[in-house]
Amino acid sequence: MRLLLCLTLLLLILGSCVQHQSERPQTNTQSVCDSTNYSYSADVAPIFALHCNSCHTAPNGADGFNTDNYADVSADIKALLEAMKEKGGRALMPPNSKLPDSVIHIIECWNYKGAQNN
Ligand code: HEC
Repeated sequence: MRLLLCLTLLLLILGSCVQHQSERPQTNTQSVCDSTNYSYSADVAPIFALHCNSCHTAPNGADGFNTDNYADVSADIKALLEAMKEKGGRALMPPNSKLPDSVIHIIECWNYKGAQNN
């Protein structure tokens, strides 16, 4: 009887571990982005237009960054993402108002898939 109880408990504990594993949110960019395809013109450019272009329009964007065209965005994507995430010692952009993670995620996945002019 005692053995049965122990075995049942063990199974319950193991079971909850397995379930926990599969429910864990995916934080890895690779696995999260594999199922999504974002386009520069339809998804990425509108985000920069709405949140960045007012200060970062070529040829004289603030601090030398232009977010209103593909060539500049793709060349500077690392710095742009760092600023959006306040990483790499960069000032947070837009200034003082971090974009929602879900919005930043669109740009990260577009970049992960090769930052194409699509
Ligand atoms: C209200 C104007 C304004 C908006 C909107 C804005 N920026 Fe900026 N940005 C600036 C100014 C001014 C600087 C230079 C001064 C500073 O670093 O704060 C700057 C600097 C930067 C830098 C360099 C930061 C560093 O520390 O190296 C990057 C990269 C950048 N912006 C990207 C962006 C992106 C991406 C967005 C939109 C998500 C954005 N900015 C929105 C005004 C703006």
